[in-house]
Amino acid sequence: MSPTFSADRFSAIFRKSESSRARLEPRWRGESKPKDPYPTTDSSAHRGKGLCGLKACSTLAWFTILLALAGCRQDMHDQPRFKPLAESDFYSDLRSARPPVEGTVARGQLREDSYLYTGKMGNNPGDYMPFPVTTEVLARGQQRYDIYCAPCHSRVGDGNGVIPSRGFPRKPPSYHIERLRKAPLGYFFDVITNGFGSMPDYSSQIEPRDRWAIVAYVRALQLSQDATAADVPAGQKVPSEPPRFEELGSGATLPVVENKPAHEEPK
Ligand code: HEC
Repeated sequence: MSPTFSADRFSAIFRKSESSRARLEPRWRGESKPKDPYPTTDSSAHRGKGLCGLKACSTLAWFTILLALAGCRQDMHDQPRFKPLAESDFYSDLRSARPPVEGTVARGQLREDSYLYTGKMGNNPGDYMPFPVTTEVLARGQQRYDIYCAPCHSRVGDGNGVIPSRGFPRKPPSYHIERLRKAPLGYFFDVITNGFGSMPDYSSQIEPRDRWAIVAYVRALQLSQDATAADVPAGQKVPSEPPRFEELGSGATLPVVENKPAHEEPK
């Protein structure tokens, strides 16, 4: 708090000004005041010359007000605020930093679409994507998967990632087992969000939309290992066996691909 005006302080200053006045009038010290050379009997002439004449009184009032205002001054370097995270005995928990009011929702964080954030319908995982899967979504999912999941689950999702091969306590299951092939999409979202057994959760590293993109990509990985000709849309060809080369090429020269007969649809 800044110093405030107090009666003591005022009277101290007042006393000081009294004594300095005495210093200015040394002639009168110890002797009687010289007589008024023009004495008058008119009482009105004496009015206003007492201890508190009208003029003196108003000066004193102004002086008092100014003094009081000076006491109220608040410098910028001494602001009435808490330093961040400072202790305060104003609150019972002694914290000056107050927690947000219960139920506060930060801008952009109103999670109205609960499926997008939990992958659950009621208590069970749902089996649909909360937004349409486009090529961009799959590409994003592949990129995030290769960053966050492949180190353990491997790029093809068979569980032979480099981390388990270097001593991670548990080898992840392959995504291509019957149980996980049949698992609903929301289940994968939940595993990424909350972790599973010895697998940690990735909720802080991967934001919900990216988690769903990964889920779509995992499903694509599963399809890639479990597709039949019936899954291929009509008119599209399934990639055939790798090309055979007439000449392999030296590195400086390009390989020459063997001319094959037209590809037959696998049965
Ligand atoms: C640090 C290694 C590690 C990383 C990284 C990792 N996982 Fe796992 N994951 C595991 C292990 C280990 C298990 C088996 C856990 C167990 O059974 O206790 C597992 C299990 C799973 C399962 C199967 C759950 C079941 O029901 O059996 C899924 C699905 C899965 N992980 C998805 C993911 C996805 C998606 C990512 C990337 C966001 C990911 N994991 C990242 C180690 C990892």
